[in-house]
Amino acid sequence: MSKIVVVGSYVVDLTARTPHMPKPGETVLGGPFKMGPGGKGGNQAVAAARMGAQVTMVTKVGKDLFGDDAIQNFKNEGIDSQFINQVEDESTGAALIAVDDSGENMIVVSLGACGTITEEEVQKAEEAFQEADIILVQLETSMAAITTTINLAHKLSKPVILNPAPYQKVPDELLAKVDYITPNETEAGLLTGVEVTEVDSAKKAAEILLEKGIDTVIITLGKQGCYLVQKGEKTGKVIPGYQVQAVDTTGAGDAFNGGFAHFMAEGYSIEEACKLANAVAALSVTKSGTAPAMPYAEDVEELRGEAR
Ligand code: RIB
Repeated sequence: MSKIVVVGSYVVDLTARTPHMPKPGETVLGGPFKMGPGGKGGNQAVAAARMGAQVTMVTKVGKDLFGDDAIQNFKNEGIDSQFINQVEDESTGAALIAVDDSGENMIVVSLGACGTITEEEVQKAEEAFQEADIILVQLETSMAAITTTINLAHKLSKPVILNPAPYQKVPDELLAKVDYITPNETEAGLLTGVEVTEVDSAKKAAEILLEKGIDTVIITLGKQGCYLVQKGEKTGKVIPGYQVQAVDTTGAGDAFNGGFAHFMAEGYSIEEACKLANAVAALSVTKSGTAPAMPYAEDVEELRGEAR
């Protein structure tokens, strides 16, 4: 069984459907409202666990109803929650999400407790890091948590995946210790200064990231799939995505990252892990919500069977 440590955010997602995105100053009469578990870290942990991974989650929540729910939700998913710190002095974070009729989303995330994870709180999980096959971290938490995670993984020679979402500036010395980086087009643009709109610009951005010392760059390209290139390769390749009817694209990147971490930890080739991660992402957009919309291993098998 693959063992994964995820360090990152847990927030409550407050999602409203809307016929169109409001302009600044506009109020739109929306459709149904849903509240549920979210946060990029939590979503990725659930995606990996539903693929069959043994996941340890490192995060921080408030001593409030949302925090209690968080811990219960992780337990229900079979995720080890011993390094989820529940504190009095911070509230559990929340994300305000609007999803329009085409399934596209806009998000404002207020990190609350998970934005205050300290170096010590990550260090406490060192034993779990030691036992893990792979470590997964995003940028939706404190820089202390991100830095400590990458440094600890590097010290223990554990492969680390950085999903640079949402974009924050990361020092080049830290990026040089990252094994796999998985930006979407927007994040790849912000990290490199290259506007990424299609495969050629993705190639240019990926070259810049490889020059920073990262071993493997995977730029996710929405329904087109992802662009994969590794250190020492002259050129990378597009791993095509699956065509599905999108209901809600929120959390698709998280589905990809959780799936990718699991399949890499299971020893699949990198191309196969990308293909399977594309399938996890595609299935996640066919349902509303984020963590609750993550597919299970049998759903991925079924989609792959249909595509053959
Ligand atoms: O990637 C989607 C996630 O980003 C949502 O669940 C929301 O919580 C935001 O953090």
